[in-house]
Amino acid sequence: MADASAVLNVSPVIPVVTIDEPQDAVPLARALADGGVKIIELTLRTESALTSLKLIATEVPEILVGAGTILTPAQADAAVAAGARFLVSPGVTPALLSSMLALDVPVLPGVATVGEVMAVLEQGLDTMKFFPAGPAGGPGYLSAIGAPIPHVRFCPTGGISLATAPDYLKLPNVACVGGSWLTPAAAVAAKDWARIRVLASEAARLGR
Ligand code: 3PG
Repeated sequence: MADASAVLNVSPVIPVVTIDEPQDAVPLARALADGGVKIIELTLRTESALTSLKLIATEVPEILVGAGTILTPAQADAAVAAGARFLVSPGVTPALLSSMLALDVPVLPGVATVGEVMAVLEQGLDTMKFFPAGPAGGPGYLSAIGAPIPHVRFCPTGGISLATAPDYLKLPNVACVGGSWLTPAAAVAAKDWARIRVLASEAARLGR
């Protein structure tokens, strides 16, 4: 089983990125890297997501690109075949988790309850995505989970912004946060790579 700690240590923020047009993939990834963020969770929420994933994996090697929104074993296989170097799911089922763990890349399964954390721990993983972080209870909830289960490290995602990220990053059980705010749809549509570079550099400066 590949260790996911290295994935969580790349950047204080993992950008959660959705790309419609594959032609945007490389300039968007370069803008993030130029801003100091060298990791992307590319969501499989668009038809062309795997094409974009492959482009980033081959043309922007300084970016650690992973696939997010993995809902099925088939998507996990296809993402790794396209070059995903880690896998993220919004939640877990026993079948999805075991098929992701059979692949030779780090896996960040999504959890939102203490029981789900314990179920993933039983499979030998102690790094997880906490999703949807804001609606599920925010920093207070994560802090409370840390009392009985202090050794799990989380990447909370969902409803986090540059302003609220520090509330999560100061917690001992938070390794990094995830969010889509670094690549706003309007900036991508306008091909405003300079704006994305600025958003990335703000995120890269967050302390943890
Ligand atoms: C995810 O899949 O992690 C979320 O869609 C990202 O949430 P956000 O858009 O609220 O940052």
